[in-house]
Amino acid sequence: MIEKIIVLGGKGGVGKSSISTATAVILSDLLPEKKILLMSFDMAHNLSDLLSKEIGNAITPITSNLWAIEPDANEYAEVYTQDLVNKMKTLTKQMPLIGRIPQIEEFIDTTFTTDSIPLALKNAMFFQKILDSEDVNSQDIQFDIIIADFPPTANMIALFEIPEDQVKVVLKYSLNFYNSIKDAMKNFSNMFRQILKPFDDGYENRKELGKEIFDMMVELEKRGERITELIHNVGSLRLVSIAEKPSFEEVKRARDLTKKYINLDAVHINMIIPKKHAKKCDFCGQISSVQQKYLQEIKNEFRNTKIWESDRLKEEPIGLDGLRNLAKEIYKGTSANEILNPTVI
Ligand SMILES: Nc1ncnc2c1ncn2[C@@H]1O[C@H](COP(=O)(O)OP(=O)(O)OP(=O)(O)O)[C@@H](O)[C@H]1O
Ligand SMILES: [Mg+2]
Repeated sequence: MIEKIIVLGGKGGVGKSSISTATAVILSDLLPEKKILLMSFDMAHNLSDLLSKEIGNAITPITSNLWAIEPDANEYAEVYTQDLVNKMKTLTKQMPLIGRIPQIEEFIDTTFTTDSIPLALKNAMFFQKILDSEDVNSQDIQFDIIIADFPPTANMIALFEIPEDQVKVVLKYSLNFYNSIKDAMKNFSNMFRQILKPFDDGYENRKELGKEIFDMMVELEKRGERITELIHNVGSLRLVSIAEKPSFEEVKRARDLTKKYINLDAVHINMIIPKKHAKKCDFCGQISSVQQKYLQEIKNEFRNTKIWESDRLKEEPIGLDGLRNLAKEIYKGTSANEILNPTVI
């Protein structure tokens, strides 16, 4: 059973992927009995670089209880819509006129391609992996904790909107598809209406299939509801910022925009220049004092939220050891339970 979904968000380049991965690694060290999945929701995946291991579109083992995946949204979109396409093909073929046109299958195949699927729908496919991981009948491992590395804010909001909207998106998509077939066949149909009328014997059949397609939509809606429910009940958002104005402004916006979808339970302030280095040169001192100012502002703004501060490390936190280092820098001996469910003192 999924106990926790941690979503990391924030401005580009502030350390979302590094902190997601470091959090996944330390939780896997601290909780050997839990199965943890690290997922990239960013189309521009980079978990492979961070973990120095080829991951891609398969659940890939990282440690004995940690797995990672960089889902290929195109592949999910293809698998998912194929079923719908097949049903529509069958339905179309049973239509009195259209179904008797020899090129109809080819027409459907060329009209209904993965490329024509809207990006929003492809994004929705990311969530399928979360649902798979709680499906007891699936081949996939059942995970207890999911850590999701989200793209920068604008795309992150779009992701949260999807579960509720995906039925609408699919419906619109299917309707466009139907309309294009109808348009193409209109003239043809007008010409042969009278001749082909006696061949229309399949109304009941078509009703059946229509219902199946409708059921698929209902299924999709349920899926969307389940995702919304999971995000609402076990999801927590962690916003990552660096101690600079643009990034601070962005986390405030992200907080306001995501409020209705997910509970914000922590803020990371990353890449802080350690004070001891600030004294070493004028330039370092100036940057550091600007950072200290924003550090205070962020802490003040989020005073009711858990704040985790992390210094800028000398070396890029890459590979398991590098990430463990970053985790140590962020959590400084915090218990797994506190990492999962942070409290404000
Ligand atoms: N505390 C840190 N100390 C030093 N380097 C860091 C730290 N945190 C992150 N980095 C480095 O900063 C860069 C950006 O980090 P990362 O890719 O995690 O950011 P991101 O927010 O996921 O970026 P994007 O928006 O592009 O997905 C990387 O090179 C990473 O190694
Ligand atoms: Mg990233």
